[in-house]
Amino acid sequence: MEPIKIAAPAKLNLTLDVLGKREDGYHEMKMVMQSVSLADELTLEIQPGEGVALSSNLGFLPLDGRNLAAAAAMQFREATGVNYGRLTICLTKKVPVCAGMAGGSSDAAAVLRGLNQLLGTGLSPQELAKIGERVGSDVPYCVLGGTALAQGRGEQVTPLPALPGCWTVLAKPEFSVSTPELFARLDGQRLRCHPDTAGMIAALETKDLQGVARRLFNIFEQVLPERKRGKVEELKQLLLHCGALGASMSGTGPTVFGLFDDEGTAQAAEAEAKTFCREVFLARTL
Ligand code: C5P
Repeated sequence: MEPIKIAAPAKLNLTLDVLGKREDGYHEMKMVMQSVSLADELTLEIQPGEGVALSSNLGFLPLDGRNLAAAAAMQFREATGVNYGRLTICLTKKVPVCAGMAGGSSDAAAVLRGLNQLLGTGLSPQELAKIGERVGSDVPYCVLGGTALAQGRGEQVTPLPALPGCWTVLAKPEFSVSTPELFARLDGQRLRCHPDTAGMIAALETKDLQGVARRLFNIFEQVLPERKRGKVEELKQLLLHCGALGASMSGTGPTVFGLFDDEGTAQAAEAEAKTFCREVFLARTL
């Protein structure tokens, strides 16, 4: 069978709210998500034999079931009962790892879409999203993509009117954040500031990019350890100073992004941000 290439776009959080802790240990989320053109690339090929053989351009990534791309392939086989023989996945990472942009979840979603295409299984995006739920909370959104509201654990995805096309500069500070640790810090506090999710949705409905940019808000910024919060704030201010309409952290971070309505301004901001951190990207919203 001919190999196929699939793109796995990164996501941004236009808003991120946590409503409380659930009985199952997860948290009840309310997030407005947006896909961007910065993407990993996957090549999938099916050959005679058995098993999943994953390779990657990043030496430090696990290549077994701990990698969400491999986990997705296994869940696809379990859910559909289709024995596809030996699957080779060649993963070229371009989206920073552990950066709050759902890179791993998007790789998993790309594998589900790719297998559906390669094997002609004809599953709907909703059916693929259901399989994705078993792999991770963000995978269903990554299967569907675009502009969407994600609720529940993150797996209840409702499409929203598309964000008016714009540019984004994504800058990843050189520190990492632990997702479980940030959730735990959040549990210990009563936060008064929450995003205006309804206002964000209204701004999307009226195609009001300024209104969207004004309402970018991520509740996790408030619970970052002091020094890390300072760095995130510094980067946001840098992007705003360079002409971003709004700026926020994505997911559990540490990536900070700004939205721009003009490519030239975004390019200048990208250059400026590169004096501050190594991993900076210019992308379009999808
Ligand atoms: O679902 P996923 O494996 O991506 O979640 C990773 C971790 O993030 C979970 O183990 C949990 O600690 C935290 N999480 C959470 N509530 C969510 C999603 C994730 O507490 N809705």
